[in-house]
Amino acid sequence: MGHEGPPGLPQAPTRIHGWAAVTYFVPDVRAARDFVSQLTGEAPVLDHENLCHFAVGAERITLHPADPKGPVGVAGPVAYWRLADVAALASMIEWFEGHGGQKYRGPTTGPDGWTVCQVRDPFGNAWGFVAPAALAVRAIHAEDRPWLRALWQREWGGETQVSHGAQHHVREVDALVAWRGAVRVGAATFVATGRTAELVTLNADPRGQGIGSRLLAAWEEAMARRGVARLTLTTTNDNLDALALYQRRGYRLARLIPEAVMRARLQKPSIPVTGHHGIPLRDELVLEKSLGGSGA
Ligand SMILES: CC(C)(COP(=O)(O)OP(=O)(O)OC[C@H]1O[C@@H](n2cnc3c(N)ncnc32)[C@H](O)[C@@H]1OP(=O)(O)O)[C@@H](O)C(=O)NCCC(=O)NCCS
Repeated sequence: MGHEGPPGLPQAPTRIHGWAAVTYFVPDVRAARDFVSQLTGEAPVLDHENLCHFAVGAERITLHPADPKGPVGVAGPVAYWRLADVAALASMIEWFEGHGGQKYRGPTTGPDGWTVCQVRDPFGNAWGFVAPAALAVRAIHAEDRPWLRALWQREWGGETQVSHGAQHHVREVDALVAWRGAVRVGAATFVATGRTAELVTLNADPRGQGIGSRLLAAWEEAMARRGVARLTLTTTNDNLDALALYQRRGYRLARLIPEAVMRARLQKPSIPVTGHHGIPLRDELVLEKSLGGSGA
């Protein structure tokens, strides 16, 4: 059985689901185990003289004895481990150099703002590391508009957003744009009228790297500077991750609007029937936060 892919190309019979382990072939598993224990700050989850596993988040580092099919060295693909920032990359390189390793390639910063480096461990294998450039949040400029329009089309299914009956068009909303190096990585769009500001959309790409939190904080600061007293936003009943994020940052549930999404779908048929976590997409939840207090 094939799966859907680019048209006209024959497909492999099954999909891959991310990667499970990066395997380093080493002359001595015991010696390499001690090295990786220090590197990760973790004991191995499997400790066998011929096989060692370390858990790193959801992934795994595996140590295996080198043999003719898997020699020690640098050839072909290299796994790159993500570090928090450029300072962490510098201290990682220093740590390798203090433990018998050496810089092999880089560090160098690409146009995407990521700094990359390969270092060799004392056994001869290459470890890749990448660190993101610092995030910057800037007010939207005219040249950001086509990107924002494409983002809305991709993430929100069109150029309008409907919340409790009101329509916002992407060309009319104000916005803050998050940048990493020369790459746009997220946006907060909003409408501010007098003492109230509404967050219309919040997107981060990639997710889970602090971009959404940073945009939200920058939006709150910008609104406080404008003299806004009340922040409001609307999310949907399926968006449990966003509900958690906002409530952890002082937003309070102010209103439930049952079946508002079902009505919005009449204006914007591209709104899907099923949302996050397989939850039917039906209702809107309005959250609010007062500025100048702790959300009270
Ligand atoms: C919601 C969104 C903007 C958050 O931005 P982000 O950059 O991914 O989030 P961050 O990395 O700043 O993390 C925010 C919080 O969510 C948590 N988080 C991040 N990814 C997560 C995931 N996959 N599952 C659960 N929690 C997650 C973080 O641990 C963090 O927790 P904290 O509140 O304790 O600090 C982003 O996920 C996104 O674009 N989602 C799709 C669009 C959307 O739903 N927007 C909101 C609609 S109103």
